[in-house]
Amino acid sequence: MGYHLKCVNCHKTYAPDHDRYTCDDCGDLKGTLEVVYDYSKLTLSREDFSPYEGLFQFTDLLPVGSNTSIDEAMGGTPLLEFEGLLGLDRVLIKHDGLGFSSSFKDRASIIAVNKALELGYDTVYCASTGNAASSLALASAHTPLKTVIFVPSTIPKGKLAQLLVAGAQVLPIKTTYDEVFDISLEIGRKKGWYCRNSAINPYLLEGKKTAAFEILVQNHYEVPDFVFVSVGDGTIVSALMKGFREFRDLGLVDAIPKVVGVQARGAATIQHVFEKGAPFEPAPEEVSTIADSISVGNPRDVVKACTYAQALGGTFISVSDEAILDSIHEMAASTGVFAEPAGAAAYAGLKTMVASGEIRPEHLVCVVVTGNGLKDIDAVKGQTPVEFYEVAQVYELMKGETE
Ligand SMILES: Cc1ncc(COP(=O)(O)O)c(C=O)c1O
Ligand SMILES: [Zn+2]
Repeated sequence: MGYHLKCVNCHKTYAPDHDRYTCDDCGDLKGTLEVVYDYSKLTLSREDFSPYEGLFQFTDLLPVGSNTSIDEAMGGTPLLEFEGLLGLDRVLIKHDGLGFSSSFKDRASIIAVNKALELGYDTVYCASTGNAASSLALASAHTPLKTVIFVPSTIPKGKLAQLLVAGAQVLPIKTTYDEVFDISLEIGRKKGWYCRNSAINPYLLEGKKTAAFEILVQNHYEVPDFVFVSVGDGTIVSALMKGFREFRDLGLVDAIPKVVGVQARGAATIQHVFEKGAPFEPAPEEVSTIADSISVGNPRDVVKACTYAQALGGTFISVSDEAILDSIHEMAASTGVFAEPAGAAAYAGLKTMVASGEIRPEHLVCVVVTGNGLKDIDAVKGQTPVEFYEVAQVYELMKGETE
């Protein structure tokens, strides 16, 4: 599919050249690019897609085709449906903790791997709180690409283990994600490596938007009223909004959901910028939250996230760390979905808006779970202390219970 790139801030357009990442005039932070396709010659119908065929069934709407043998494994995650959850008639959970590397980031990493191969690079790199890194390392492992990963000291052990076993060159750095991001860009650019950093690489969002497509296809094209997703750099939330918009513009559905971006209260930079209103000016903050994946003080897709939300009826809210931890337990116990803190933040956001009355029982709601709880068991370890019994004690205990 033919496409060009457009600056989200000044709307200047660019050809998709080999090393074109952001707008020359607006810079890396404000001038992230949007991939704009020429859909005028494209006719798609609902029958062209099926619920579980995965991400590359949408190749007509993507900037790269499939090249590697693991492409088939990407996307196609379950859309689960629950009746009566939180008092609502129907709640959908898009469980992207069940992907190739157990996070939503697979959708972007596979695009980066295929793009790097298509463009002839030999090395791909990224800075990441952990999930983008582990998905990139695993998705590129079987290709000739060398993978270099920059991560902050907050990376949970599960994510670090994924990186180490995948054989990537890992550079864990004693600083924040925000600084790691800048260091990686400086080094990656000097070395001429392919960049898989959120927001900087415009193609990543294209992979992520397929989750919106899947929600619609899997829900038989019934459009949810609200979609909740957690927000760090702001790329996933932007991607969902773009995906819903594209399916509407292609005539496959006639409405788009209200997308609610959920941040941790201690890292709510995008919410603050959005609430100040347009023109959206990045305003980095010091941040702190137990949800490591969304602990971002200088979000790189802030302008895009706020611009899309303003145009498409989206909004941003924030939830406390306590609410996030409670939601991990509550969601697992009531739905069987074990989410990492960032994944559970979306559920905590839903609870907040149910409590405030903004979500009513008849609203159809979808919660996007972006990461698997097994990636960060330390987050719940303290809350689930376990004392092992002696064998005899178990018989004793059960005897009492059954009699
Ligand atoms: C599990 C999880 N949820 C949410 C996010 C936030 O995504 P974004 O940075 O695109 O806003 C991330 C990013 O690392 C993540 O790993
Ligand atoms: Zn620009």
